[in-house]
Amino acid sequence: MQDFLEKIEKRRTFAIISHPDAGKTTLTEKLLLYGGAIHLAGTVKARKSNKHAVSDWMEIEKQRGISVTSSVLQFDYDGYRVNILDTPGHQDFSEDTYRTLLAADSAVMLIDAAKGVEEQTKKLFWVCHRRHLPIFTFVNKLDRYGRNPFDLMDELERILNIRAYPINWPIGIDGHYVGVYDRIKKQVELFESDTSHGAKLLKSTTGTLDDPQIISVMGEENYKNLCNDIELLDLAGDDFDLEKVKKGELTPMFFGSAMTNFGVRSFLEKFLELSPKPQQRMLKYGSGYIDPTNEAFSAFIFKIQANMNPAHRDRISFMRICSGMFSKGMSVYHVQGKKSIKLSQPQQFLAQERTIIEEAYPGDIIGVFDPGIFSIGDTVCDESLKIQFEDMPVFPPEIFARVQPKDSLKRKQFTKGIMQLAQEGAIQVFEQRDTGLESFIVGVVGSLQLEVLEYRLLNEYSAPLLMNQLPYSVARWVYADDKNKIDNLKGLDNGMLVYDKDDRPVILVSNEWSLGWILERNPGVEFLMVPSDARKI
Ligand code: G4P
Repeated sequence: MQDFLEKIEKRRTFAIISHPDAGKTTLTEKLLLYGGAIHLAGTVKARKSNKHAVSDWMEIEKQRGISVTSSVLQFDYDGYRVNILDTPGHQDFSEDTYRTLLAADSAVMLIDAAKGVEEQTKKLFWVCHRRHLPIFTFVNKLDRYGRNPFDLMDELERILNIRAYPINWPIGIDGHYVGVYDRIKKQVELFESDTSHGAKLLKSTTGTLDDPQIISVMGEENYKNLCNDIELLDLAGDDFDLEKVKKGELTPMFFGSAMTNFGVRSFLEKFLELSPKPQQRMLKYGSGYIDPTNEAFSAFIFKIQANMNPAHRDRISFMRICSGMFSKGMSVYHVQGKKSIKLSQPQQFLAQERTIIEEAYPGDIIGVFDPGIFSIGDTVCDESLKIQFEDMPVFPPEIFARVQPKDSLKRKQFTKGIMQLAQEGAIQVFEQRDTGLESFIVGVVGSLQLEVLEYRLLNEYSAPLLMNQLPYSVARWVYADDKNKIDNLKGLDNGMLVYDKDDRPVILVSNEWSLGWILERNPGVEFLMVPSDARKI
């Protein structure tokens, strides 16, 4: 038991949130480097040649230079087991990102020092903030000209409405910082200049602020400015309050440069010390929480990915362990499937490399081979528990298309592909009844998802498709006191009635105004933005 509790105590599971290009890939690589999980020199070369990161998998990502799927990376550092949930930065994939954030216990918000708080950062911040997730801020790219650190602190407060406590403070002048001052340890860390562009760990010297040798290395001018800044921060800034950090009300702030390794190690160490261990998880319908220290195993599926690696044509479901210990070959109860199953080939991932694991603990993410039984949000647990975790959020799609196979001989592969992508949560599938058409209506949140759909059906299922975008942008789940009212909806001339995968009626219309028009003509009918089982008739 003691060993089990220590394992939980030393686990950290977090996501990095940022706007594209802020340096998330670079920072992830550097954290892996410090954890000894990769050897940087080789990775930098690989990045230079094909410009994509260790966590990118799919061909389309390489072509577009974006990270489409989220992945999970793991490494050990100083007795900690660190799980980084990699979230795609592209706004089109926000649904996947939101779901991934549900598997994290904290988030690192990465900000480009020259650009400050950008659009995508804002969106992701609010998702984390709503869940009271502790957020740590890393201001990146300090090796070149950026905004004034006080100005950036102010921006966090103005735009994100969160107070910041700078844990370290840059020493030097903009574009030529020479080190950082750790306000908690009251220690200076000065970095040696380095020409390897981050290919090597940065050498540094540490000492206290009253050490004459440290003062002479940083220079009298830098010393005076630093003393003034610290005085101002101590006087006018917030006190450090770990309880506020844990509730997501105060963000510890760090300055550094992922590319040159400036301040990265001290950030990692402080982050591991201050960030939360695996937290308790909420159960469905407000039926309480499950604590990680509960010895009975439980986990939820937050991501499903088919054909992740062309060398292994299979489907992997990723689950976050919430309580108990997982051991290879154990049987668990699949709550939604209502039966016991054996989780086969439990794996952890580093890019293309997979390792079969023997055991895993709360906070860990494992991927299991999935013969097509899991859906996003499913719960698996020890037979004795039979709990159900809260539902994953469903986002109303805004873009719709009718899809059908180009080649009718490929209908079987086409249907399989569409259904699998729907189970992965990459698209939502609807059916229009009584039309005699052999097609599906797919709904997505961002248009890039339609491109991905087309690409994946062709490459993974050999099923080229015909796609016609529909003139709708609003979907609502329809509820009524009498089923006949749904079958005979009035005023639907400019819309369409379809059914989702659970046979729930949904209307598609072109704008909010049409919704009002239809509502007026159908008393006793309600429209909901997300499906609600409680309202099923
Ligand atoms: P992302 O995953 O958040 O989209 O960002 P990524 O790490 O790919 O970084 C985006 C660009 O910013 C890259 O430059 C990267 O080298 C650069 N970068 C990251 N961290 C720092 C930093 O601390 N300082 C500076 N100056 N630049 C940084 P690129 O030219 O687009 O690509 P590459 O040729 O360097 O790979």
